Amino acid sequence: MSSLSTTVHTPDTAGIFRCAETLSAGGLIALPTETVYGLGADARNDTAVARIFEAKGRPRFNPLIVHVASAQIAQRYVHWSDTAQRLADAFWPGALTLVLPIRDDAGLSPLVTAELPTLAIRVPAHPVAQALLRQFDGPVAAPSANRSGKISPTTAQHVIDGLSGRIEAILDGGACPVGVESTIIGLSGTPTLLRPGGVASEDIEAVLGSPLTQRNQSDPLTAPGQMLSHYAPGARVRLNATTIQPGEMLLGFGPVDCMLNLSETGNLVEAAANLFHHLHALDAMGPEGIAVSPIPMTGLGLAINDRLSRAAAPRP
Ligand code: TXA
Ligand code: MG
Repeated sequence: MSSLSTTVHTPDTAGIFRCAETLSAGGLIALPTETVYGLGADARNDTAVARIFEAKGRPRFNPLIVHVASAQIAQRYVHWSDTAQRLADAFWPGALTLVLPIRDDAGLSPLVTAELPTLAIRVPAHPVAQALLRQFDGPVAAPSANRSGKISPTTAQHVIDGLSGRIEAILDGGACPVGVESTIIGLSGTPTLLRPGGVASEDIEAVLGSPLTQRNQSDPLTAPGQMLSHYAPGARVRLNATTIQPGEMLLGFGPVDCMLNLSETGNLVEAAANLFHHLHALDAMGPEGIAVSPIPMTGLGLAINDRLSRAAAPRP
């Protein structure tokens, strides 16, 4: 299925109005968020949500994040808690997703949660995402706007490369400033890190005043994005490289001689913002392999190493 003509809209009042109308009509639109581009649909509309899975080639058992304009609106869909309020006060709008028990009266398509008793919900900070959510005035289910298993998109061009002909429209909001997906925290029991992401877990722990429970590798897949071999470029990926081997290009970090550098000064925030962009760019050059410099495991380094180790994992 790639028969639609995909319209690219500038994120002005008219573009946002048109995209909100498309959502209301059950269409699919890609929208910029501060983390990565999302592939949005009306989360209450079964057919529209089903089309997300079809457009991405995503397994139906992998649930979606719902995006809303404010923490107050989020409470229409999930059972709220004091901990949720504290995290929302500190990090919303922003790159944090909370997983909370879904309300019986949420009114969302069951496809959104893949029938789990919990819902992943987020209030994005990007002004274009905020404007669209307010104009649409409803919950938007949105996974990253890439084909399943491929690198997440941080520009409208990445979305066009992956999904053109499969979605109605793209709102072009430029490059995503954070560059990696949101941090996902499970709040059904003790606060648990389900996916490292754009908010450093140290910062979340500082607000909670206690360490996050770490998801055990042997636990059942509570966040199926945890599947290995996710975010895969075409080239094979080798981590912690200090030298390159024949056929490889080096994706550097810090003061190294390389094809592309995530951050010459060793800044992890800058490295996160560049990560998917540089992976897309290197992949387009068609090397046999991408070697990646060591990246420290602090702050956003956790999310960067998480995505890179998936890119390096054996392919299914
Ligand atoms: O930054 C982001 O989070 C981006 C932007 C578009 O918001 N979205 C994103 O969505 O990364 P996606 O679908 O690529 O990743 C969402 C992850 C998946 O790994 C999914 O399994 C997990 O969230 N997830 C969704 N609902 C869940 C739930 N109820 N419990 C546990 N994990 C859940
Ligand atoms: Mg994704």
